[in-house]
Amino acid sequence: MRSAAHTLLHPLDRLAAAWAEHFGLGAPRAFFAPGRVNLLGAHLDYNEGFVLPMAVDRGTYVLAAPRADRRVRLHSLDRQPAVEADLDGLVLEASHGWANYPKGVLSAFARDIPGLDLLYCGDLPIGAGLSSSASILVATATAANAFAARERSRIELVHLCRGAEVNFVGVKCGIMDHYASAFGREGHVLHLDCRSITHREVPFDGSKATIVVCDTTKRRENSDGRFNDRVRECGEAVARLRELGVPAGALRDVDRATLEKHRGRIPEIPYRRALHVVTEIERTIRGVQALDAGDFEAFGAWLRDSHESCRVHYEVSSRELDALVEAVHGAPGAYGARLTGAGFGGCCVAVVRTDAVEAFRAVVAEKYEAATGLQPRLHPFHPSRGATAL
Ligand code: GLA
Repeated sequence: MRSAAHTLLHPLDRLAAAWAEHFGLGAPRAFFAPGRVNLLGAHLDYNEGFVLPMAVDRGTYVLAAPRADRRVRLHSLDRQPAVEADLDGLVLEASHGWANYPKGVLSAFARDIPGLDLLYCGDLPIGAGLSSSASILVATATAANAFAARERSRIELVHLCRGAEVNFVGVKCGIMDHYASAFGREGHVLHLDCRSITHREVPFDGSKATIVVCDTTKRRENSDGRFNDRVRECGEAVARLRELGVPAGALRDVDRATLEKHRGRIPEIPYRRALHVVTEIERTIRGVQALDAGDFEAFGAWLRDSHESCRVHYEVSSRELDALVEAVHGAPGAYGARLTGAGFGGCCVAVVRTDAVEAFRAVVAEKYEAATGLQPRLHPFHPSRGATAL
């Protein structure tokens, strides 16, 4: 067991202290990839819509050193088990848990890299909707790239990481998390078009508004299955609309009027999922316009509407998330809040007047505890840089 004092050290110091114990002598190199929080655009990435994520200043640190053979050793200071495997024979194994993520990335690099020893440590809450798993993927890809015979571009790494999550791990996620982890920029949120896979950096004025991630402390449970259900339900809506003669490749191509016109001929669940998606696309576009104009009141209103749509139509909220969003909306300085990430538990993201953050935190904690008996964790975050060698 590690002492409590040990966990207060920076992850890089913990890694440096632990390397020899895990892997013996050697001079590893260090890499970092951040988690992300998405401000608007819930469940739009796999529908080819728009999202508005930013990288946070926490994530996954990894030390990496090449080996003379074709083995990979994956150890983590936060998670079990430690896994050792043959680089040329990496396959998904349920008992490997977290290590399947780096294995998925390394299998895509296998022809280009030597064996590697990798030691991980992160400072993101796990299962909170802040993409700790994407940060493991992107940190692994950034490290592997440094030892690869052919260096890949940042966008290639993003596609490789998403491919690992979808095809190797089996979560049908979109591209947002890996993209934000790779392309994050200090002081900016990313307006990412998930069809063209390009983004515009939108300045976020931290002197006026602060992004406070509010953690319900209730972890997502069995969320991968329910996440995949949503992906399938959106696909069903598109398939039905196509049968009805709507030329849609994705829900991105459908507007609200078209959806309503066909409402009676689409099964209820796919209809409601599609309703969330088409209105969320609109909210995200309008939200970005509000941010560009520095209008945080309007931006916050779009966040509130987004949460309602996630709760009622997309059904990815939870009792605790609803209680926390309600607590935020009754607190001083709050512009608006919504659940973030996949939902089903985890965190909501709040935008708060910067000069009111301390009063906001006290009131949210009190109201949320009164409603649920749980103490929330509140983290003010600043938009941060993307993945990097250190
Ligand atoms: C998860 C997925 C993302 C995205 C969000 C919902 O974080 O990994 O690709 O779909 O949920 O917006």
